[in-house]
Order: sequence, then C-alpha cells, then structure tokens
Amino acid sequence: MQHPMIEAIVHAKDEHEFLEKASIHLLNTIHEILSTQQFCRLGLSGGSTPKKLYHRLSEMHIPWERMILIILDERNVPLTDSHSNYGMIRDELLNAIKISPEQVIFFNTTLGYDSAVLSAEQKLIHLKKERTPLFDLLILGAGPDGHIAGIFPDSPQPQKGFLTMKTHTDTYDVSERMTVTMEALTSCTSAILLVSGHEKAHIFHKIEQGDISTPVGICIEKVSTTIIRQD
Ligand code: 6PG
Repeated sequence: MQHPMIEAIVHAKDEHEFLEKASIHLLNTIHEILSTQQFCRLGLSGGSTPKKLYHRLSEMHIPWERMILIILDERNVPLTDSHSNYGMIRDELLNAIKISPEQVIFFNTTLGYDSAVLSAEQKLIHLKKERTPLFDLLILGAGPDGHIAGIFPDSPQPQKGFLTMKTHTDTYDVSERMTVTMEALTSCTSAILLVSGHEKAHIFHKIEQGDISTPVGICIEKVSTTIIRQD
C-alpha cells in the first residue's frame, strides 16, 4: 500500500529516462505554480543526483524573473570549493540564466560559518512573512542513511521557529554543514524526490512503507511528494 503523501512514483529505466521524466515533471509543476503565484519559490538540494537536472533546467523556457531559488543546504567550504553546493548550482544553472542576485537565497560561506547561517535565516524569515508556505516546490535528493538536505538521522532537533541550523556529519564529505530545518522544509506545497542508485533502494522501500524514522520519511509525511526512481 503506497504511503498517502506519495503523490506518484515514477520509474525510470536508465539515467536518460530519469533525467527526462524529472525534467518534464519539474517544468509542468513550475508552470502550474506560476499559474496561481506571482513567484515560484523553488528549493534546490545539493549533491550529485540533481546536477544534470539543474543543467537541463537552465535550458528550459522558464520566466526566471518570476523564480526565487533557495539552496537548501551547504557544506562549510568556500563557494569556489568543489564540494560547495552553491558552486555546483552556480556552474550548472545560475551562470546560464538571467536571474538577479536577490532572487537566489543561499548559505554564503564567505561570511563565515555562523554568519552564513544567520544571514540565510533572516532572508527565509522575510520570505515566510511575505507568504506561507515558505516553498512552493522542493527538489530533494536523499542519502543512503535517509538524510535530506543537511538534516541527518542524528541531527539535533532545533527550537521551534528556526528555519536554518548548523549540522555535522562524520559519514559524508565535509563534516561541517548548514541547512534549512525540517520545519522550513515541510513548509512546502510539494516536492520532487530523486532516488537514483541501488544503494538507496532500501531507503525507497522504507519510505514506501510509510517509515518516518529517517529525515526523508519525516519530510514525506508532511509534503506531497513525487518520487522519481532509477535503480
Ligand atoms: C548534500 C545534499 C544532500 C544530498 C544527498 C544525496 O549537500 O550532499 O544536499 O542532502 O541531496 O546527500 O546526495 P547524492 O545526490 O550525491 O546521492
């Protein structure tokens, strides 16, 4: 029995079809949002899975002047570092589109660890005051341990009301992380979850059974999610 908050599970037979189906769903959803909202607030995950999708997004016919892009998490590295999520999204998407800096919210590690989190927090608070939910759409990846954005299974639960936080991982590259909180992530209308690779198949099955013991399960519990899968 499919989890009630899973909108759809789209199976792709290979990487090409994965990218194709994700692109079509993303484009349709963005245009649907823009049919009722002046701006589309799109949350972007880091990591490797969405990289080609962001490049494809840069080639799509999207009214970028009506898009607000929010990078959901970051590693505590310079923006020029190969591990930077901002750096990856800048190279795959931002450098290829016409969008003003005010329309892109990210953890600016140039400011330093604490200030990067504080500055992002203030921008998200302002955005949320303008309109809720905070996000119209999320593009999410998930780690094999069920983490999403920079929220890991052992990440601390922040105080209510916080939209960003610092986290730590001993498992993945770059231990010092910063991320939107689960409260921020779940202030969202819908999500696209990209699950690619055999090492994540178990996570997918746990999600499908409604397991909310991992961050990705908790998010799906509250946000209508379309899962795009490729084993
Ligand atoms: C990050 C990401 C993270 C990512 C998952 C999946 O900074 O690493 O935001 O949450 O989405 O780790 O990463 P892959 O797509 O590389 O498997």
